[in-house]
Amino acid sequence: MLALHSPLDMHLHLREQDMLQLVAPFTAQAFAGAVVMPNLVQPVDSLDRVAAYRRAIIESCSAHPFTPYMTLFFRAFDREELVAAREKIIGIKLYPAGITTQSEAGVRDFEAIMPTVALLEELDIPLLVHGESNGFVMDREAEFLQVYKELARNFPRLRLVMEHITTAAALDLLDQYPNMAATVTLHHLMLTLDDVAGGGLLQPHLFCKPIAKTPRDRDALCRAVLRGHPQLMFGSDSAPHPRHAKECCGCAAGVFSAPVALPMLTELFEDADCLESLPAFVSSNATRFYGITPLDKTVRLQRKTWRVPENYGSVRPFLAGSQLRWSLVDDAAR
Ligand code: DOR
Ligand code: ZN
Repeated sequence: MLALHSPLDMHLHLREQDMLQLVAPFTAQAFAGAVVMPNLVQPVDSLDRVAAYRRAIIESCSAHPFTPYMTLFFRAFDREELVAAREKIIGIKLYPAGITTQSEAGVRDFEAIMPTVALLEELDIPLLVHGESNGFVMDREAEFLQVYKELARNFPRLRLVMEHITTAAALDLLDQYPNMAATVTLHHLMLTLDDVAGGGLLQPHLFCKPIAKTPRDRDALCRAVLRGHPQLMFGSDSAPHPRHAKECCGCAAGVFSAPVALPMLTELFEDADCLESLPAFVSSNATRFYGITPLDKTVRLQRKTWRVPENYGSVRPFLAGSQLRWSLVDDAAR
């Protein structure tokens, strides 16, 4: 048996309505809280929308104790708006325009964001960034590092999160800027581009943004996470899309990993003989960086093999059909 104290998922997509009802309970069962992304069909870019979305999330996971940490979709906010938002959100999420699912309202002109970023620094509101340029797909994260550097250098007190990093180069930045942290997904610890597109058949359910990179990048991420790098936080980027939106011409980006996230992470850490680093990755690195005290919740895993279902409703999960060695102990059954 393994007990984790208040595990957190620091990057999550929950969607709305039926999809929200379907996916939210998986995260609420396994985690004490999660940072919820604002890229809904109509972006969550006002406090009214934050409040309504938060209510819908809480309703959808009422069976489990769980805190949704809300984010606002980046736009040119003024001081008054940010002062009002400060207590209601964990941070502001910035997407470059059009870079991924439902990001059309994102940033087009990075010079124009500076007054808002200065306010975030002054008010100590974290800035969470989907860091990809619009260059060649394998180079997008590396090209965006220049923007991260400028932000970290020009705003040394800004808490800046590189979301879902996929490259060894991004890790190097963390050492230079103590005001930065990064999230790492489960799938980017396991996959390279070969798994997505290198075989005889394309794997749409492994297609996501940022795209999985090289073996060297994946191995660097694994090493840093397994050794307990203090600036790395688990963020699943679990991003459900119905099968018809994945298995078609024009496949949506996103890997739905919520049901397997904690059991598979435990297996990875155990295989590397690094289980002692797991609590930092799934909880304390995030609580320290964000200065949050999550609700007191013990999540237990037991060594009991299970087979990941082929489908949860309309969605195919990451690792569908695989046998996993650890399973969650149902909190309602304890
Ligand atoms: O693969 C992705 N899916 N990457 C993102 O950044 C967004 C996400 C989604 O919302 O589907
Ligand atoms: Zn995401």
